[in-house]
Amino acid sequence: MAATKVLVVDDDLNIQRVLVFTLKQEGFEVHVASDGQAGVEMAAAIDPDLILMDVAMPKLDGYAATQQIRAGNSGRRVPIIMLTAEADVEQRVKGLRAGADDDIVKPFHPLELIARIRALLARSGGGAKPKTGTEAPTLSRLCSFYGAKGGVGTTTLAINTAIALATRLRRRTALFDANLQFGDERVFLDLGLDSSSIVNAISEPDLDADLLKRLMVTHRSGIELLLAPPNPEQADIVVERQRNEPGTLTNILHLLRKAYDYTIVDTGRTIDDFTLQLFDESDVIFVVMTADLSCLKNVRLVLETMDSLGFERSKVQLVLNRSNAYTGINVDNAESALGRKIDYQVINEYRGAISALNSGEPFMSSRPDGPLGAALSKFAQDIDAVLAAEVAGAGV
Ligand SMILES: Nc1ncnc2c1ncn2[C@@H]1O[C@H](COP(=O)(O)OP(=O)(O)OP(=O)(O)O)[C@@H](O)[C@H]1O
Ligand SMILES: [Mg+2]
Repeated sequence: MAATKVLVVDDDLNIQRVLVFTLKQEGFEVHVASDGQAGVEMAAAIDPDLILMDVAMPKLDGYAATQQIRAGNSGRRVPIIMLTAEADVEQRVKGLRAGADDDIVKPFHPLELIARIRALLARSGGGAKPKTGTEAPTLSRLCSFYGAKGGVGTTTLAINTAIALATRLRRRTALFDANLQFGDERVFLDLGLDSSSIVNAISEPDLDADLLKRLMVTHRSGIELLLAPPNPEQADIVVERQRNEPGTLTNILHLLRKAYDYTIVDTGRTIDDFTLQLFDESDVIFVVMTADLSCLKNVRLVLETMDSLGFERSKVQLVLNRSNAYTGINVDNAESALGRKIDYQVINEYRGAISALNSGEPFMSSRPDGPLGAALSKFAQDIDAVLAAEVAGAGV
């Protein structure tokens, strides 16, 4: 079944962005016209299931555009919601007279708008699709987590961020264990050795969305995993294949982006071809660190490397894990040593982290409201606010 098509007719860029973002999140297919005239033409061309129509617009105002759409519409009657600037009764009546079915006064809460849209679609017999389903467009964000040093908590952060995005923010989330030789998400998540992995995905000559979906392992927390090879020997198969055909990895990442709002990648420590390609294709790289001297030294090297690769500064974000653990180096010291700000911090809570590890149940699932759960929820919320806004900005 195709997604429900919504046409947004509004000249205000900010409103366009908000509407596109909100509607896409709800699984609608969104089209945008920036004036009344373009709205009338687009309505005829794309045959939308519903139209959101601003009132004051250049060329043709919302009333006139609505009238023209009604006059020219020989087929089904498309539901139209007017977006009015004030709660003036006269204006509202004018809109209804022109042929609108409902109106909503700006500024409105996105949830109210969605409720009105769904009610109107239900009334007019048009079926709004639920949020799930692969046809709905995704945010398509690819985020790599790279540890500046072994044991700083990269896997812990990658797993729990993925779970927070899925459970707290209701994002479709995949977790890719790209630590080919020593990936330990199987252990962290209590998954057996016989489940499929990146080895199967990368060896498949005709990999498509359906096949990849079947190779993903669903975890009870709601995230889906593309696991690391079950043993270090099989890592060679992956490295070989990617070296001979870099397009194979690109295709996997592309399919992941298409199917999920977020693909979280837990990368290996060595900066080899495989990791470099992952970095290259990521929207953001979270460099996980702790506040100790050897780690700071590594972070400097990593930042220099990223710089020489031509990555923008904003693509590389620093995450200080165990931020309140006593190391003799505080955040200010660390920032001045690095000459840049630390972007995010996650507190230290050894008990919570270790008991989650030993039970095979991530703290974001077992104790989402504990101190570490709260810290990761906040981190997920903060990164989602930035990344989803980027998508909304680019979506128009
Ligand atoms: N915020 C935290 N507070 C307390 N302990 C933590 C925290 N984050 C991680 N840990 C603990 O640190 C240890 C290492 O974590 P993890 O395996 O996630 O690190 P890593 O960087 O992925 O390691 P590797 O280099 O082996 O891949 C684990 O015992 C984990 O429970
Ligand atoms: Mg790890």
